[in-house]
Amino acid sequence: MSDYERRAEGVARILIGDGEIRSRICEMAKELDAAYAGDVPLLVGVLNGAITFMTDLMRAMTIPLEVDFMAVSSYGAATQSSGVVRILKDLNEDIEGRRVVVVEDIVDSGLTLQYLLDVLQRRNPLDVRVVALLKKEKTDAVEVQVDQVGFTIPDEFVIGYGLDYAGKYRNLPYVAVLDPRMYSGE
Ligand code: IMP
Repeated sequence: MSDYERRAEGVARILIGDGEIRSRICEMAKELDAAYAGDVPLLVGVLNGAITFMTDLMRAMTIPLEVDFMAVSSYGAATQSSGVVRILKDLNEDIEGRRVVVVEDIVDSGLTLQYLLDVLQRRNPLDVRVVALLKKEKTDAVEVQVDQVGFTIPDEFVIGYGLDYAGKYRNLPYVAVLDPRMYSGE
């Protein structure tokens, strides 16, 4: 058994392979380079899930940029959003007059992003763009601004490439569907 397979306990199936993620991120980085040419955008990574996406995205970009991070409460060991969002770590930078790019791992119900955008907009940035690696196909999600999406995925709980279930699986190099037996208690 390879290391790749050994790490996959709890994985129902691989949804997006690491090569596919890399090439999509290069495309997204090119779009951002073009959109912010001549400016120095502030990339705001949403911890912890966006760490992997953030580091790959910023390294694929070629324009000068700055980074900062915010941490918001996640689901804990649940697989559904509670709708209650708390800031666990705020930005270090003042964003007034700045061009802000919010870097999100995944948009599910959209509640986290909605809350975050509201907080950021009240600080008077010049503009805010939202870049998300993944967006779930849902009918009941809230209407929220997402400007660039890496991949639209089915409404299933996914892990890997920064995304966790109960704190684990963030180090998987791919995005995979979590085996439902992991949370159904079977
Ligand atoms: P939302 O508020 O429901 O849109 O969820 C946003 C946050 O919940 C994301 O930034 C993730 O941290 C987490 N999340 C949502 N769906 C998943 C998933 O399928 N796997 C892992 N984390 C998820």
